[in-house]
Amino acid sequence: MTVYEKSAAGRRGFIPEPCDVPAAALGAIVGEENLRKTPAALPEMSEIDTVRHYTALAKKNFGVDTGFYPLGSCTMKYNPKINEQLASLPGFLSAHPFAPDEMNRGCLRLMAELERMLCAICGMEAFSLQPAAGAHGELTGLMCMAAYFAKQGQSHRNVILIPDSAHGTNPASAAQAGFSVRAVPSGRDGLVDPATLREAAEAAGGALVGLMLTNPNTLGLFEKNIMEVAGIIHGAGGLLYYDGANLNAVMGVTSPGAMGFDVMHLNLHKTFSAPHGGGGPGAGPVGAGKLLAPFLPGGGQDSIGRVRAYRGSFGVLVRAYCYIRALGASGLREASESAVLNANWLLNRLSGAYDAPYGERCMHEFVLSAAAMKEQTGVSAMDIAKGLIDKGFHPPTVYFPTIVPESLMTEPTETESPETLEAFAAAMLSLAEDAKRNPEALHSAPVTTPVGRLDATAAARQPIIKSR
Ligand SMILES: Cc1ncc(COP(=O)(O)O)c(C=O)c1O
Repeated sequence: MTVYEKSAAGRRGFIPEPCDVPAAALGAIVGEENLRKTPAALPEMSEIDTVRHYTALAKKNFGVDTGFYPLGSCTMKYNPKINEQLASLPGFLSAHPFAPDEMNRGCLRLMAELERMLCAICGMEAFSLQPAAGAHGELTGLMCMAAYFAKQGQSHRNVILIPDSAHGTNPASAAQAGFSVRAVPSGRDGLVDPATLREAAEAAGGALVGLMLTNPNTLGLFEKNIMEVAGIIHGAGGLLYYDGANLNAVMGVTSPGAMGFDVMHLNLHKTFSAPHGGGGPGAGPVGAGKLLAPFLPGGGQDSIGRVRAYRGSFGVLVRAYCYIRALGASGLREASESAVLNANWLLNRLSGAYDAPYGERCMHEFVLSAAAMKEQTGVSAMDIAKGLIDKGFHPPTVYFPTIVPESLMTEPTETESPETLEAFAAAMLSLAEDAKRNPEALHSAPVTTPVGRLDATAAARQPIIKSR
């Protein structure tokens, strides 16, 4: 029921004393024609019923604070609440973007130190904190690549290579930057095959801009041929873009700079303690090595210019700064190692009941396939995802990466306890059993939620966002 349906005429929450100040002649200020003729049709409720209404709605939300959230490629880890408090300190919260630099010294110092820390973590020369999200960072980094080639008198270069396992934002950002995208098919092992890449680079010839790569890739696999891959692209006159959305797997172990990347973005809202989801705000800082650093936003005369107003998503930057300072170098490495350990533990518990197309070793996430299950029982990856909701878990990512049929992509992150991982594994294994015994029941899951299976496409394309 909506608040309107719960409304009862004349019911009130708080009734203030009658106002003893004469009412202003509002009509004289805003114009008589703009005054309401009838009171607004607001719901009339008591305070307690209003509080209960909104509390009940809030309890229907699922979030990382209420349960395990293994959404692959999203790094839905628990973010320490102390970082929320620090980002809410009055000096940060009330800093005005138009205040002169002399009055914002603390904020500017924090940003400068964060840039230096991100450079150290990523092996980059410089960072711009401006971009507002991962995809925005991608576009910014690609624009730096374009500006670099323009300066070299090579504006004709317009072909970018992207593996077919990549996140959809990669080709979208590349197209937005004016490049022509060529997909590179992954090898049978899920990795970029150097021979295939060489062919693609040769086919692009003098038009090659470079390669966009996520490492570990979106199958949760480390591109072990990365140095050869970098050699092929650089040898063909191209540049390497690193999609840092999966940095949570490699912090302190290796870095994009060490792997030969020229430019990259990070998702602070995945790896560095900003709550993820709900539409933001996030931040997608862009880092660059020596070659591309002069082209970053905020750089000198070669800079591509500003890509975001004011000081970027400043509150998100404060959270990242606090998180990095609190963990330190060894803590960041431990976070990555634990994320990888958790994922491998889960993969080993689940492979057997589900197909593991790329073997039983992974980085921070892994992709299972329910294709064989679907063939034998009719139960799909979507049915398993919906069945998990009835068992109290947020589903993993499904049907991405698209190169794995009936894919279930799980990222447990480092913040989950062995008990939680075991409970999730038990739920997944019992669903695999249900698929054999009672597949029909899984087709109608979820049955414990206020609504069952939604038409997800219609919900996204024609949302009904009010009740009347
Ligand atoms: C691998 C990868 N790259 C890029 C992005 C884009 O990041 P954002 O959603 O912040 O734009 C995502 C988002 O999930 C991702 O998983």
